[in-house]
Amino acid sequence: MNLTKETEFFQKNLLAWAATTPRPMPWKGVRDPYRIWLSEIILQQTRVEQGRAFYERILVACPDVFALAALPEDELMKLWEGLGYYSRARNLQSAAKFIATHLNGKFPEKFEEILQLKGVGEYTASAIASFAYDLPYAVLDGNVYRVLSRFFGIETPIDSPAGKTQFSKLAAATLIHSAPAKYNQAIMDFGALQCTPRKPDCPTCPMQQKCAAFTGKKVGLLPVKGKKLVKSRRFFHYFIFRKAENTWIRKREEKDIWKHLYEFPLIESVTNGESPGDLLLQHGEKIFAGADYETAEIRSSEIYTWQLTHRTIEVRFHELLFVNSSLELADDFTQIKLTELKNYAFPRVIDRYLREKNYL
Ligand code: ADE
Repeated sequence: MNLTKETEFFQKNLLAWAATTPRPMPWKGVRDPYRIWLSEIILQQTRVEQGRAFYERILVACPDVFALAALPEDELMKLWEGLGYYSRARNLQSAAKFIATHLNGKFPEKFEEILQLKGVGEYTASAIASFAYDLPYAVLDGNVYRVLSRFFGIETPIDSPAGKTQFSKLAAATLIHSAPAKYNQAIMDFGALQCTPRKPDCPTCPMQQKCAAFTGKKVGLLPVKGKKLVKSRRFFHYFIFRKAENTWIRKREEKDIWKHLYEFPLIESVTNGESPGDLLLQHGEKIFAGADYETAEIRSSEIYTWQLTHRTIEVRFHELLFVNSSLELADDFTQIKLTELKNYAFPRVIDRYLREKNYL
């Protein structure tokens, strides 16, 4: 592979920096995929300092995947208490059961198989694949976006679809293929300790001389976040949960458009490229009251565009048929019969969808 001079410089200095900058963490350097997986799930939504104690506590109770699979759910929830985003724990256990029963307890070794595990997205799969098996997958989290955008001087908004593509390619091209685990851990640590969001330590930074942000006096301006884009376009995902002939709606009470109108459970996202499954995984806590759920089928609509004076709202509807009966939604949702939909006032874009699908 032909690397640019900048990339070579970056790789060399990153490893040298890591070799001389201690950042002890209990999962660092570990090769056991179970432990790496556990740490990465915890760190998805939790800071390192907070996650550390939970990681150690859970490992004592569940030293391997069989123990995690067998732990009563209530006990797992108790162990997870205080960490938040409890769907992480449920997904973790459901994946543990899968590994214990279908894979004889052997953690998958291929990236695509790791990615299939519940609760594991691209980032977590890359972290596990590289840390456990030294497979050449570059992690791309907030730290990595920041470090790469500064060093290479990239101004594409990191939260735009174009930015996602560009940074994924750059991250893959910058990865040290002969040392993926070392490289991935180093770039995360570098982002956490040296190239921090506010007040990065440029005076002592070994990258300074070739850092585009530093030499171009743009450190404070990078990475760019596409706030303006978010302001002019909003992306709404409505989830029409169907259980037999029932569904859930709520009244919009917040200070925002469509106040006092009814709507289905909503997740607003910053791009329109996210899958309904990922959105529910990341933001489902706001909607579900905690019951486990299983979907038989998800049907997603085209994008319905709604023009307001200063905004475009892009709406997608996702219909989910639930097969179990324990599903419960958060308190602000009301369960109604589909035949009662006609009794409620919805924003016109929802109305349009319901008419097209013959609900009204
Ligand atoms: N955040 C997510 N994974 C991490 C890791 N392995 N080390 C430090 N921070 C992280």
